[in-house]
Amino acid sequence: MTNTGTECLLLGITGGISAYKSVELARLLVASGARVRVVMTEAATRFVTPLTFQAVTGNPVHCHLFDEEYEAAMGHIELARWADQMLIAPATADFLARMAQGLADDLLSTLYLASSVPVSVVPAMNVHMWRHAAVQQNLSVLASRGVNILGPDSGAQACGDAGPGRMLEPTDIVAALGSLNHRGMFAGNKVLVTAGPTQEAIDPVRFVGNRSSGKMGFALAEAFVREGAEVVLVSGPVALNTPPGVRRVNVQTALQMHGAVFENIKKTDIFAGCAAVADYRPELPEGQKIKKTSERLALNLVRNPDILAEVAALKDGPYTLGFAAETENLAENARAKLLAKKLNMLAANPVGDNLGFERDDNSLLVIWPGGEKQLPVQDKGALAQSLLGILEQQYQAHVGHVKGS
Ligand code: C5P
Repeated sequence: MTNTGTECLLLGITGGISAYKSVELARLLVASGARVRVVMTEAATRFVTPLTFQAVTGNPVHCHLFDEEYEAAMGHIELARWADQMLIAPATADFLARMAQGLADDLLSTLYLASSVPVSVVPAMNVHMWRHAAVQQNLSVLASRGVNILGPDSGAQACGDAGPGRMLEPTDIVAALGSLNHRGMFAGNKVLVTAGPTQEAIDPVRFVGNRSSGKMGFALAEAFVREGAEVVLVSGPVALNTPPGVRRVNVQTALQMHGAVFENIKKTDIFAGCAAVADYRPELPEGQKIKKTSERLALNLVRNPDILAEVAALKDGPYTLGFAAETENLAENARAKLLAKKLNMLAANPVGDNLGFERDDNSLLVIWPGGEKQLPVQDKGALAQSLLGILEQQYQAHVGHVKGS
């Protein structure tokens, strides 16, 4: 795999002044591990010589549809088949119009029609041309056909004008291409995450709760989405925004969390129980606010269901990741919990003494039946990403094992 996520990239260059930036673009693409073949329009060769691109990519540059030499070596249909992806940078207003029209009057436009791989264009033109209705209409036609439009940038232009129309910088193009091609470690997986505390009513105004902020669970949900998963986040009361792309279900009590989890557990591939679920709840919450009339008040608490253990006990249930906040004997207690709840993986973190709760950073000891790994103190976002790296390896091994057995 390369940074851009593609192996064979066909780089089309059309005739604009920013074609000079495409030399650096080609260099960066080659450096990222892609095999790059350049196709230039006639106009592009007036700005930069094919020899320059040949030197940078190590491959001959293709310029003509009817070139006997090239057609004999690698014909245009073969070239279209070779590519995993097409990137046209710069894409002039004229070339975008020809793409939108479906013209095939030169090599690059013919390759666009002949190939069925993903296509990205990086428009570059004068600000007034960019704003023209004809250009905008062509772009919407191309976008509706699934062409990725990268940029343009805004700023000073070679012609002296300023505004939108500048070609994106090569590094930005490579980054944009990378995220377009990033399918993610958990693409196609359904993930259910619980987060935050639960609040167990004592009376209408008071509750039994805990210090969980929900930050770790939310960071985990966000990381799963970034890695391509479809994520449901069942959250207790927290003051956090829902990460984009996450379906959030709000609950207050452990019993509500239990209900929401089992409503959504079907077809879940991975269950991450990150919530600090209250182990006990007041047996009979008072209907009215309790008055301070007596010297002592005893709360009668009953056990809440263990959501994580119940999910782990499901026949053909999901891969289960539990969390454990421990104030002492972290490793020992964590391994005992992994076994007792029959989990696939457990992430344990030290709490107390200003550690863990309500903070933006944390450390984790991640354990699974065959091993363990210590993740050092870091921001919870980075921690979630590192945890997913370990989880992906173990989850793949687990899926392979289940299929094989
Ligand atoms: O046993 P302990 O509460 O320390 O276990 C913590 C793990 O179990 C966490 O993953 C938490 O989300 C889960 N849990 C649960 N339901 C409970 C208590 C804990 O799902 N009632």
